[in-house]
Amino acid sequence: MNTTRIGPSLLAADFARLAEDIGRVERGGADFLHLDVMDGHFVPNISFGLPVVAAVRQTTRLELDTHLMLQNPLPFIGPFKEAGADSLVVHVELESTQAVLDAIRQHGLQCGLAVNPNTPVSALYPYLDELDSALVMSVEPGFGGQAFQPAALDKIRDLCAEIERRGLDIPVGIDGGVQPGNAADCRRAGAQCLVAGSAVFNSPDPARVIANLRG
Ligand code: DX5
Ligand code: ZN
Repeated sequence: MNTTRIGPSLLAADFARLAEDIGRVERGGADFLHLDVMDGHFVPNISFGLPVVAAVRQTTRLELDTHLMLQNPLPFIGPFKEAGADSLVVHVELESTQAVLDAIRQHGLQCGLAVNPNTPVSALYPYLDELDSALVMSVEPGFGGQAFQPAALDKIRDLCAEIERRGLDIPVGIDGGVQPGNAADCRRAGAQCLVAGSAVFNSPDPARVIANLRG
């Protein structure tokens, strides 16, 4: 059975036609939506925040996987839950990682942890027991449409081996530059969730791209 899950990243959608674009990927077979929230501090860019997440919640029944690229996510865990997020992904590079994970749990949300290209994947290991998912960044976070960094594949392999060694069951995702041309490598390395923004939304046929990514 093919268990790869595909999550289009809304960052590459047409924000003036968001509901329409979400409809296209939902009908095209997306398994979840990936929402990239940026604060201009943790990453050198600002995307969208709570009102957009709440509006998206009104337009789709898909799971909203919300990637918080925020320097200080702690005060916003409750508000993102209120807005309709199903899972929150935060970064292991934060000083307050443990407190943020605890808060996500306390709010009853699914809890994911992401690791940047310049951070060793072993930084995730102390937290594995408390995660619902892990996310390996294959670009520097902050912008869509960047080139895939193949070094992420070794990190996926190492992380999957560690998860298996510890007898855990944590889906590993990959985020950044994922395209039909590298999706098979991602799947073979062990990625079960593929996040893809520009590949899906810049295509006239998102259903075909989603099927290609799924393999
Ligand atoms: C980067 C974001 C990614 C990005 C993916 O900061 O976390 O989710 O939007 O977009 P593509 O697939 O275009 O690289
Ligand atoms: Zn993301």
